[in-house]
Amino acid sequence: MTNRVKGVIAGSEGEPVTIETIVVPDPGPGEALVRIQACGVCHTDLHYREGAINDEFPFLLGHEASGVVESVGDGVTNVEQGDFVIIAWRAPCGNCRSCFRGRPWYCFDSMNAAQPMTLGDGTVLSPALGIGAFTELTLVHAGQAVKVDPQVSSAAAGLIGCGVMAGLGAAVNTGGVTRGDSVAVFGCGGVGDAAIAGSQLAGAHTIIAVDIDDRKLEWAKDFGATHTINSTHTDPVEAIREITDGNGVNVAIEAVGNPVTYEQAFFARDLAGTVVLVGVPSPDMKVELPMLEVFGRGGALKSSWYGDCLPSRDFPMFIDLHLQGRLDLDGFVSETIALDDVEEAFHKMERGEVLRSVVMM
Ligand SMILES: NC(=O)c1ccc[n+]([C@@H]2O[C@H](COP(=O)([O-])OP(=O)(O)OC[C@H]3O[C@@H](n4cnc5c(N)ncnc54)[C@H](O)[C@@H]3O)[C@@H](O)[C@H]2O)c1
Ligand SMILES: [Zn+2]
Ligand SMILES: [Zn+2]
Repeated sequence: MTNRVKGVIAGSEGEPVTIETIVVPDPGPGEALVRIQACGVCHTDLHYREGAINDEFPFLLGHEASGVVESVGDGVTNVEQGDFVIIAWRAPCGNCRSCFRGRPWYCFDSMNAAQPMTLGDGTVLSPALGIGAFTELTLVHAGQAVKVDPQVSSAAAGLIGCGVMAGLGAAVNTGGVTRGDSVAVFGCGGVGDAAIAGSQLAGAHTIIAVDIDDRKLEWAKDFGATHTINSTHTDPVEAIREITDGNGVNVAIEAVGNPVTYEQAFFARDLAGTVVLVGVPSPDMKVELPMLEVFGRGGALKSSWYGDCLPSRDFPMFIDLHLQGRLDLDGFVSETIALDDVEEAFHKMERGEVLRSVVMM
């Protein structure tokens, strides 16, 4: 059996997305069919449309999603029909060299559905991040479907599937932010603000937000920033040193994906501090640093893939913290939109008008 539903397709590089009828197979062994309820518009979807990820067009976009399991294939035990789930783009295989090293959050052979979703004429679709969720139904590996408390709003829940998890995890998992720490976050979009929220949750004492847009800095305060710096007219490294008694921060988180902000993060850090790169650079970008400073400052320069999260461990936990009133997820939802508003949502994102537009099915 197959299902015919509408989906948002990026057909060729740089062209506006279109709504097409897509064919979604019923789940085979190990797979789950999910009826999508909400899916956030992430910067990475735009990267796909622009050909910046790879050229395997056409893409079925959307990957920050929540929904309800419609049916499962043979052998699936972690979810069943009717479960409310967040879809993860990492489902650890348990068998690769990273899983064997006891580090499933880096899994190098993450699982996806085996059967392809296609256009009506049989053209195979590349689902964004192995998901493809700007559609009414999507097919994933059952390991990608993570059951969480259904009391959460579907719009807020979906965001845990990508950007918000990446930011929370950049602070809590990769950066190891803990009670009393000082933190600086460069770039206060959805990812940066989640890093701020994660730092607050972990007990950081000083949380400095850096952006080039005053609107973003105002929103950053709502998520827990104790200080803000607009780096268009203030040197952020100097300002951060001033705030931290001349020392710099324990953890500096780069959430833009840019060599300029990466260097700022590097120099805004205290001795033996940690730099976390969670922003995604483009292929042409390079950083140049004095090697003596790399040695002399000590500490760690780390990258954060998906906030180094283990979805089955972290998604239910963050949803529970949200339901306990300790983590604001609703604040990331700037607007809810329809499936055919995704192209306009990309433009709003480029103009900096939203943290997240969320498509509601
Ligand atoms: N590592 C991961 O697993 C992961 C997951 C999701 C997204 N990301 C990446 O994280 C980055 C941020 O994503 P987002 O959704 O928050 O994007 P966004 O566009 O919503 O936010 C980016 C923010 O950076 C600010 N900014 C731009 N240039 C700046 C500069 N020079 N100095 C300071 N601030 C500046 C913008 O004003 C904006 O507020 C992107 O590169 C995205 O691809 C990474
Ligand atoms: Zn693995
Ligand atoms: Zn994303």
